[in-house]
Amino acid sequence: MTTNKNTKSQKVWGGRFATHPNDVMLSINSSIDVDRRMGAEDIQGSKAHAEMLVRTQIITPEEGKTISTGLDIIATEIDTGTFPFDRSLEDIHMNIEARLKDLIGEPASKLHTARSRNDQVVTDFRMWIRNAIEQTDIGLSKLQSTLVCQARDHNGSIMPGFTHMQTAQPVTLGHHLLAYVEMLERDRSRLKDASNRLNESPLGAAALAGTGFNIDREATADTLGFSKPMRNSLDAVSARDFALEVLADLTIAITHLSRLAEEIVLWTSPQFGFATLSDEWSTGSSIMPQKRNPDAAELIRAKASSLAGHFVSLQGAIKALPLAYAKDLQDDKHLTFSAFDTFELCLQAMTGMIDTMAFNVEAMYQAAKKGYSTATDLADWLVRELGLPFRQAHHLTGKIVAEAEKRGIDLVDLPLDVLQNFESRISRDIYGVLSIAASVASRASYGGTSPQRVMEQVKFWETRLGI
Ligand code: ARG
Repeated sequence: MTTNKNTKSQKVWGGRFATHPNDVMLSINSSIDVDRRMGAEDIQGSKAHAEMLVRTQIITPEEGKTISTGLDIIATEIDTGTFPFDRSLEDIHMNIEARLKDLIGEPASKLHTARSRNDQVVTDFRMWIRNAIEQTDIGLSKLQSTLVCQARDHNGSIMPGFTHMQTAQPVTLGHHLLAYVEMLERDRSRLKDASNRLNESPLGAAALAGTGFNIDREATADTLGFSKPMRNSLDAVSARDFALEVLADLTIAITHLSRLAEEIVLWTSPQFGFATLSDEWSTGSSIMPQKRNPDAAELIRAKASSLAGHFVSLQGAIKALPLAYAKDLQDDKHLTFSAFDTFELCLQAMTGMIDTMAFNVEAMYQAAKKGYSTATDLADWLVRELGLPFRQAHHLTGKIVAEAEKRGIDLVDLPLDVLQNFESRISRDIYGVLSIAASVASRASYGGTSPQRVMEQVKFWETRLGI
């Protein structure tokens, strides 16, 4: 990459200037290191534009053909890493235009007819995001499939379910993992919505006010796969809510990854001992030889807030911008690209961790037995079998739990006569609901944790995800 003080971008816009820009001016203004990632989209957009200029007789078919051939050569150069990127040419648009001029000469200067970098950049950006969302969707569905496989293996594995991080009721691990599959499904749907909404073409809005040339915006929109041209040229060049929306969606999605990451940190701690990360996804300590650290999970937690920061940064750049374009908007790309990169990395790490994680079913079972997790089942039994009002049953159960606690035993181990001291009508049948296995099996309401319900949900996801 070269930076040339005798700036080439001046050839494009410097007609009215007597001296060269300051080096620092060049540095702060240059975005090529970031927006070079939109090379393919820029060429696609230019080809569509040139084709339209031919059809509307703004340029000749020969000129159109020469431009298109030149752009194809540039596409190959970018693909093969031989394209001569030049920082003094500011951005990807001017780099490509200048290279086109080198390759094909004068017709290159006609390509920018009825177009501005303002509509060009945001056309490229919308296309780039559209594609990035498709890739992200693939990654999200892979993670869903990985979770569903573990859920299938563990549809009947019992673990403590928590509220307030206190043992609440026993649940199945499969059920717990499928909760994340649901979250990821909504994340995918949010991103798809955003993609549909952003899929309108700004091309032809020109600098801000439209153009005096008789262009065909429907045609370019159609060629580039947009649903339609944007209605208002001022909006077309200045709107960035589509990028904000995507950053919000990614932030919500990584928040889900982060919650799961936090569970991994807890579950793999020796104190919980519910799960072990594979060697591939564990790190060691330089001083404590026994350690197996869940670094990837911890980093996902940290990156969740960094993504939220990207959203805030872009919102800050936009919130006080009068219409239409201003250079503040150039900052949108590094925030968005980096958000997608970070998200993709976290997605891959999470998928790898879940895929190879071993669950300690016995440890989870023992933990679920602790903490009187079947107390609600006991109270429900008193309601169902003896007709007690729930509040009264709740109170009585509280006293029974206190008794078990005093004796240092589980509810299921309390002798019948002790239970009958609290309520004489309690019969031996009650033991049927006090075990944690009976408890989870009984929670067979729609969406509940019973192994049978979880298996139905697993089947639903297997069909939906094509596993
Ligand atoms: N590199 C610029 C950006 O990313 C392209 C648009 C430049 N427009 C202008 N009027 N200077 O926003």
